[in-house]
Amino acid sequence: MGAPMSISPKKKQVGVVCAVLLIPLAASSADKVPGPAALFKQVRALEQGGALLPGSHLWMHGSRMVDYYTIDRANAIAVQAATHGVARVTRFPAGSLYIKENYDIHKVLKTVTAMLKVPGYDAADRDWVMAAYKPDGHLIAYGRVQSCISCHALAASTDFTFAPGTRLPITTVRQFFPGQPISPAYRAALAAHGSS
Ligand code: HEC
Repeated sequence: MGAPMSISPKKKQVGVVCAVLLIPLAASSADKVPGPAALFKQVRALEQGGALLPGSHLWMHGSRMVDYYTIDRANAIAVQAATHGVARVTRFPAGSLYIKENYDIHKVLKTVTAMLKVPGYDAADRDWVMAAYKPDGHLIAYGRVQSCISCHALAASTDFTFAPGTRLPITTVRQFFPGQPISPAYRAALAAHGSS
């Protein structure tokens, strides 16, 4: 690799300056993106004692039989940002983590979905790392998951997060989850509010 033996002091200095500037930039995004297993550890910690997402409560009704009941939790960063309600937040800070526990009609946990904010991860889609797990941590989906993103993009004004209690029309739910049975409780709630 014939490296030049003599470098003038001035060139050497330029080289050092570039290294100092570039190394932190290159490391910042990659370092903060936990892999699926590391992210699941954070998810599990939230499951076992995380605060409820402001405005939500235990055993909310999801749209389908696979999320007949849901529990939304958030870490301290996200809770702090949403103190006055998710509807008031236009951008969530770095490190915000949300989880949605999906239970069946017998209150048996079926899946957990998660979204973690990592600036620079996916700028076009508001930088959320999306993931879905079975209760034991078995991975279902992870990363820039288009099926998650394209629905959550409907909540663009609140940074791709839905305020608790948001009810999408059944046609929208069917479009994203074809063939999945819709919860009768969800239908009833929609009907009570004059939509379907
Ligand atoms: C058909 C639209 C749709 C799809 C597809 C979808 N979600 Fe959601 N998601 C919602 C709605 C609506 C809510 C709010 C109501 C609730 O909590 O049940 C929500 C809530 C959440 C929450 C709690 C935070 C919040 O925004 O309220 C997380 C975390 C989440 N989803 C992650 C995911 C992940 C990860 C995927 C893909 C594996 C996904 N979602 C796919 C519609 C969708």
